Amino acid sequence: MLCEPYLLDPRPDGVHVVWHTERPGSGHAVLVGPGVPAMSDDAAVRAATGEAGEGDGWRRFAATTAPLSRTREDSESSAPGRTYTAPTRRPVYRQLAVVDGLAPGRTPYRVVSDGIVTAAYSLAPAAPADQPVRLLLTSDHQLKPMVPANLAKAAETAGVALDGVLMAGDMVNVPDRATEWFDSTAETPFFASFAGILQHSPIYPAIGNHEVMGRWSQTATLDEQFNDPQPGAWDITTYEELFPAPASAAGGPRWWSRAIGDVHVICLFATHIWRSPQLVGRGKFQEALEDVDDPDRWGYGQFIFEPVGRGSPQYQWLVGELAAPEFRSARYRVVMFHHPSHGLGHHSVPPFTDPVRVREGKEIRYEYPLADDYILRDIEPLLSDARVHLVLNGHSHVWNRFRNAAGVHWLETSNVGNSYGAYDVTSGAERRYPEGYVQQGDPGGLAPIVPTVAPLTGPDGTPLPFVASNEVTVFSVLDSAAGVVRSYRYDTSDPDAEVILFDEFSLA
Ligand SMILES: [Fe+2]
Repeated sequence: MLCEPYLLDPRPDGVHVVWHTERPGSGHAVLVGPGVPAMSDDAAVRAATGEAGEGDGWRRFAATTAPLSRTREDSESSAPGRTYTAPTRRPVYRQLAVVDGLAPGRTPYRVVSDGIVTAAYSLAPAAPADQPVRLLLTSDHQLKPMVPANLAKAAETAGVALDGVLMAGDMVNVPDRATEWFDSTAETPFFASFAGILQHSPIYPAIGNHEVMGRWSQTATLDEQFNDPQPGAWDITTYEELFPAPASAAGGPRWWSRAIGDVHVICLFATHIWRSPQLVGRGKFQEALEDVDDPDRWGYGQFIFEPVGRGSPQYQWLVGELAAPEFRSARYRVVMFHHPSHGLGHHSVPPFTDPVRVREGKEIRYEYPLADDYILRDIEPLLSDARVHLVLNGHSHVWNRFRNAAGVHWLETSNVGNSYGAYDVTSGAERRYPEGYVQQGDPGGLAPIVPTVAPLTGPDGTPLPFVASNEVTVFSVLDSAAGVVRSYRYDTSDPDAEVILFDEFSLA
């Protein structure tokens, strides 16, 4: 097994259990029931492979095996016991079992996979629509150094048995590199960092820019391929194979809508390629001078992968979901997507819009008009009208939050593994983009909210409306019984540090 099992998309009486193996193997099954934890390994293997599909206190659900299509390794992979000199296919087999017939509440389960028997974990069907839930809010792990401590402290604080983990994108760095998910020896891989949480708590992911691969190549490194998408020439195959659910009829796993107890979550695919802010070479603001006559080498600026603006299929779908009775009647309405159009981070600028190409002599430049930011111009009015309680974003590796005039809370709680800074009057930092772009503060024009309980302070004692630190890591928990989101910080540089609740706000 390349990872412990993880849970996806609980349904009214069931849930998906997924894990991955190095070989196709055989005898892959999930054993579910009150009798499962006490089984010996031999008894578990017999139950997984014998003729009877159920017994005293257990039922068996066979997994279906499917190879991942695009997982590879290369010279930059830190693989156990093996080095790679060039991009090489890395066989990975997904095992997926659909467990059904579950009673409400938690039931123990174990996975048996080609003779391996896991520890006992617990799973649950979807919570009914009137039931309060607890959700961990996180994003932007990317194997960064503080992530394992962050998730260990989240598990200590909130437990491992949550109703869901809302992951607002950017799980790893290069999605086709299998070691980043499973067995990197250089950093803690994605699934291993989760401190037991995903074995009990279903993950609800959104697509960030780090879930998208660029153009396929036999020779370029995986990092180079990741950085080489063009409009219409990119793919999210590995993401879709790892996280086939939740999904919608219109968007598949790209965008979806689900009730999680009394919280209804809509997830959008709203992210663009990240390109260098430097003013020479292929970047956000221009093509490399040497490439201008060769469109095959262009980056096309910081283009958006999936349209989300007015009239796009995703926008039309969102309009329908926001109007659906299940969403309108939910106690709490949450919308999750990766790009932070409201934010103090570096990546809130330039605006989230199609790059406008400008030719000046031999140069090709790109501009991003703020008035055309699709999230601020097209999406935010819809969310305000639909009385959405919370928008969850990622991407800038910062904690900050806002509230718009209609009362919609906007939260980014992505200072998990590292930070890329906060650009605010209180930090004094400027984004250093070309003239005309917003250098400080929220480009969407909202004032950041100072944490209500224990804000960090600047050198002069000023309370800071953000956390942007490479020592202090942050996680947040939505508790719908209390109707609040609580954010916690933990100083990873001090082994004796306590977890500190630093912000709490009411969703109402
Ligand atoms: Fe990102």
